[in-house]
Amino acid sequence: MSVSDTTTSGSAIRGLTPTPTTNGPTTMRAIQFTRYGQPTVLETVELPRPEAGPGEALVRVAGTTFNPVDATLRAGFLAEVFPVDLPHVPGIDVSGTVIAVGEGVSLDLVGRDVVAFLPMTRPGASAEYAIVPAELIAAAPQSIPLADAAALASSGLTAWQAVVEHADVRAGQRVLVNGAGGGVGGIAVQLAAAAGATVIATASARSRDAVAARGAAQVIDYTATPVVDAVSEPVDVVVNLVRTSPEETATLVSLVKPGGVFVSTTTPGVAPAGTDVRAVSLFVRSDAAQLARLVQLVDSGDLRVDVSARYPLEELASVHRLGEAGELRGKVVLTPSRDSDGDRERNGDGGDPR
Ligand SMILES: NC(=O)c1ccc[n+]([C@@H]2O[C@H](COP(=O)([O-])OP(=O)(O)OC[C@H]3O[C@@H](n4cnc5c(N)ncnc54)[C@H](OP(=O)(O)O)[C@@H]3O)[C@@H](O)[C@H]2O)c1
Repeated sequence: MSVSDTTTSGSAIRGLTPTPTTNGPTTMRAIQFTRYGQPTVLETVELPRPEAGPGEALVRVAGTTFNPVDATLRAGFLAEVFPVDLPHVPGIDVSGTVIAVGEGVSLDLVGRDVVAFLPMTRPGASAEYAIVPAELIAAAPQSIPLADAAALASSGLTAWQAVVEHADVRAGQRVLVNGAGGGVGGIAVQLAAAAGATVIATASARSRDAVAARGAAQVIDYTATPVVDAVSEPVDVVVNLVRTSPEETATLVSLVKPGGVFVSTTTPGVAPAGTDVRAVSLFVRSDAAQLARLVQLVDSGDLRVDVSARYPLEELASVHRLGEAGELRGKVVLTPSRDSDGDRERNGDGGDPR
């Protein structure tokens, strides 16, 4: 059950007795998979539109994204770590407009443009509507299209937790971002450069200019030169965003100065015995306060979100194929189709699609 501004106007009311329904469509278009497998398991379906339960918001989705973990989840490789109920609607990033809230959530949220990183095991945002725990929500940036804001969520939080939280990058440090051409890397480079560090980044030709424009002082083409040969002196921090072999990982760790930090989102590093190098394996967590800080940086012009492509949601299977083939760079944003949005608008859903 949920409450919406169609039934109660305006004020912030907590713990309001829920009203039975919201206006608008009772179904929604979504992408789901009913079994693990190749991208072909992703199918477009019509599902009942969910209702916001206690502590939740119903969001009319403007954008979601592709992340490498989406493909791994779909293939079934993470079934034990992230057990999802099948059928499962994928998509861990969401931006959109709150159209209703459940019990205990402020009505002030209704009508707001928001962004969130969703729990991995819950139904995701590859749909016209998504349920979002209210505690995970941050206000969306005002300065970029609402759909693109989805690209900030899990990637921005991963970069923040690597660069700011775990590595605590400071002015004057040298930071190596391995895998800077991807969604996390583009933001990690900017956060490290903004902290005053000298950023060394690995990227291939297609991402070189974007990575340099985001603040990397040196860009190493990993397709031409092994990173270890190109890094002339030790670094304070390595942020590893590439699925490296144990040997490659050890080589990257060896580039870290005494007292420095190796943070990996992929292959774990092992700190050399007898040193004070730290090796951190990062598992990103949803954090609305950190996301709000990232949003502020976007709106102050201090952080750019590198959206490399936008696709209709119905092309999610193709996007998964491209992602698995290594043919994507930056962030890819997917949007529910406008035709269907228009139909639903006329059905009285309200909201303001950008
Ligand atoms: N542990 C966690 O909580 C967590 C959270 C988020 C992400 N991750 C993982 O972290 C990794 C990065 O995530 P992402 O979203 O940024 O991925 P992504 O957007 O898919 O990264 C794609 C980029 O990887 C770059 N790349 C591929 N092979 C490379 C290599 N050998 N050396 C340097 N760069 C290479 C490519 O750069 P070019 O365009 O320059 O070729 C490509 O643009 C993924 O493995 C993801 O699963 C983990």
